[in-house]
Amino acid sequence: MLATSKKMQVPYINLGLQNIALKEQLITEFWKVMESGQFIMGEALTNFEKSFTTLAQTKYALGMANGTDALFLSLKALGIGNGDEVITAPNSFLASASAIALIGAKPVFADVREDFNLDPEMVEKAISTKTKAIIVVHLTGRPAAMDELLAIAKKHNIHIVEDCAQAVGAEYKGKRVGSMGTTGCFSLHPLKNLAASGDGGVITTNDEKVYAYLLKARNHGLKNRDECEFWSYNSRLDNMQAALLNVKLKHIEKWTERRRAIAKLYYERLKDLKMILPYDKDFEKAVYHTFIIQTDKRNELKEYLASQGVDTKIHYPVPIHLQEAAKYLGYKKGDFPVTEKQTETILSLPVYPELTDEQVNYIADCIIEFYKKHS
Ligand SMILES: Cc1ncc(COP(=O)(O)O)c(C=O)c1O
Repeated sequence: MLATSKKMQVPYINLGLQNIALKEQLITEFWKVMESGQFIMGEALTNFEKSFTTLAQTKYALGMANGTDALFLSLKALGIGNGDEVITAPNSFLASASAIALIGAKPVFADVREDFNLDPEMVEKAISTKTKAIIVVHLTGRPAAMDELLAIAKKHNIHIVEDCAQAVGAEYKGKRVGSMGTTGCFSLHPLKNLAASGDGGVITTNDEKVYAYLLKARNHGLKNRDECEFWSYNSRLDNMQAALLNVKLKHIEKWTERRRAIAKLYYERLKDLKMILPYDKDFEKAVYHTFIIQTDKRNELKEYLASQGVDTKIHYPVPIHLQEAAKYLGYKKGDFPVTEKQTETILSLPVYPELTDEQVNYIADCIIEFYKKHS
């Protein structure tokens, strides 16, 4: 137990707190949909999509069933399939790569930099005549190096699909993520910064043709109630989810500011310790979906924090190229040294709007105490 502070229990996340704070409004919106009987497509979804275009600064936004479908159907909209290659990051959540494999193309990985995002130099090296797109992941809520990546895409005449699952509201040189690539793909999974009460996702785009295609692609390929233009999937965001999300959307900018304030407090408290901390560069606004530190003493620190009541996670312990599912691609240990080193050093600290300064200071105290014992 710490000499300086009383032992606290700090969960990694507490999803119920956000709903409790919004209880009355959520119940009202829930009941409106129940009474209307409009569960698939409807006014709440239309309103949600309209608000999301403002949030993402795009012309169009489409509610989808989840973030994985958003990636998959984006690739479908771009005509990507058998024989094509798509480049992405090996340190992401596996859906960034599985969407490529599921469309019939080959996932090709490029290593990342210290900030967990794609290294443009490595991306350029991974490009072949078969490359049709790059899925650029804004991992942890930090925007990737878009200027360099967009320049590479332009030079090779390929598309960028932004994986914004962890980065709703993040900005790069004043531009919101999801507005720079051909499409932006968002997840509304309960753990994400803007959270549905179940699965959900969004695709954003400024391209009218892509939008028109996706409107049909998320709804069986139907161009109207009775006529099917092409075989496709059922991947719609429920009207009920949209109604609940409309309540939450009003708070997302405030929640982002709170996440950023927590990140700043962590940074101020921990900056003198021997570890790598995330921080905002001048030209970016990160939304801190996760706050990941990098330390050589990761396993001991994780254990120590658990003993002090602080829950932490590892995002992600096994990189995608070393997953059993990816074996057929032929990658091996050593192929992506930065990613692989990070799997041994990364530790995600709690970061969510409802976390109090007292809790953040307690976690920082615990880490400082640990470093005193282990320096
Ligand atoms: C980076 C990234 N891409 C894609 C996804 C997939 O989103 P979903 O779970 O909504 O399918 C997630 C989250 O789960 C993610 O973190």
